[in-house]
Amino acid sequence: MNISVIGCGYVGLVSGACLASLGHHVMGVDVDQARVESLARGESPIYEPGLSELILAQHAQGRLCFTTDIGRAFRESETIFIAVGTPPAPSGGADLRMLFSVVDDLVRMVDGPKTLVIKSTVPPGTGEQVAARTAAARYPIEVVNNPEFLREGTAVQDFLHPDRMIFGANSPRGLEALREIFQPLIDRGYAIFSMSRQSAELTKFAANAMLAMRVSFINELSLLASAIGADIESVRVGIGTDRRIGPSFLKAGVGYGGSCFPKDVAALEYQMRQVGIEPCLVAGVEKVNQRQKLIFAQRVLAALQGVQHPQVALWGLAFKPDTDDMRESPSIPIARTLAAGGVALRVYDPQAMDNARKILGDAVQWSRDVEDCTRGVDAIALVTDWPIFITQNWARMAAIMRGKHVFDGRNCLASGKVAAAGLYYHAVGRPELAPGAGRPGSMGVIPSG
Ligand code: UDX
Repeated sequence: MNISVIGCGYVGLVSGACLASLGHHVMGVDVDQARVESLARGESPIYEPGLSELILAQHAQGRLCFTTDIGRAFRESETIFIAVGTPPAPSGGADLRMLFSVVDDLVRMVDGPKTLVIKSTVPPGTGEQVAARTAAARYPIEVVNNPEFLREGTAVQDFLHPDRMIFGANSPRGLEALREIFQPLIDRGYAIFSMSRQSAELTKFAANAMLAMRVSFINELSLLASAIGADIESVRVGIGTDRRIGPSFLKAGVGYGGSCFPKDVAALEYQMRQVGIEPCLVAGVEKVNQRQKLIFAQRVLAALQGVQHPQVALWGLAFKPDTDDMRESPSIPIARTLAAGGVALRVYDPQAMDNARKILGDAVQWSRDVEDCTRGVDAIALVTDWPIFITQNWARMAAIMRGKHVFDGRNCLASGKVAAAGLYYHAVGRPELAPGAGRPGSMGVIPSG
């Protein structure tokens, strides 16, 4: 099938390259000329494991190309995926201008029957608005919704091995079109659930809000755990092994970030208010998240009280490992709060330094590597759980630091090893360990999901 994907951002690129790998002929469209040129050379503008290789391979096989010419893409494809951004609007809802502008272009240029697949995350009801706009077109345009659940860092894997696919269609023809596109994945046994467009739209928001809620739930409990001397890691194992609860998205830390959770929780909250429903639970999810980031920074500041010209090494900037994405990263408010508290910051991230520089500028000192970042500091504040931080040699770190404090914002370090190196270990919702102290028997480990 000839497919065009409008928008070569995260979702668009991954979807385009993966659809090509399923045997379709895909044309990626973006307004950014430089981006299209580098993509045409097979270079991915984002860091995502496996994506560059996939783009190169599909390009070489003639199934994937890129253009800025949206008219050509419309003419040459029967199915059009919209994967443009839907950023937060000042009102708190989603800004749908880019999406509607593509729809209006299609209505103007359409030269035959088309299927329009909304891949961007959109507030429930958007499909109705799109369908109202396309109703006036010269040829029929079937509007369907196919939300994407891919996670950054495992995006290609998530697209090609989905837990399930959601097909939102309000007509049998729309459903049939989606089936045809994803037939190779259906043949491999991946489940599909067909439902109305509105339900598909809401499913996407519900999934992200539910996951964000789990993170905020455990983060809120981590504060109580700290206050009463309990260990949130034990509690996580204790509840995560209950099959009704499950282990995923229960890892306490410095809060969630990224391009989806903060935006989607805010949009859901906004939409609920719009229709007159008080979002009691949903509003709390983001509130807890904001507080979590600040409390972490304030704990670091409290430990450094009285230190002359305090210096802190910020380990990690990306909102999670295996990505260079800085969007809504907890590292940003943490860095700003520490800097406002008079701390000189040295920062290091294996991938996100370039993106972070655009946000933090010269408010921090940019390091070459972990050692460079850590030399002479009074405290380490780990914000992103990159493997390179987890496997550090703690005797070496202790030797090059000036002070003795390690703040593990992701509960990912071997606490006993940190303390054995003569350092204070401070985690999130766990009892602190003094230098030389060991942790009493652990309850075992379950995957954090
Ligand atoms: C998320 C959804 O998982 C994905 O389905 C959707 O399509 C887009 O949003 P992503 O933003 O890539 O994906 O990140 P994810 O791996 O879900 O993590 C989100 C945030 O939650 C990260 O900041 C992460 O560090 C944090 N998190 C996650 C926790 O703090 N604790 C956890 O237990 C899990």
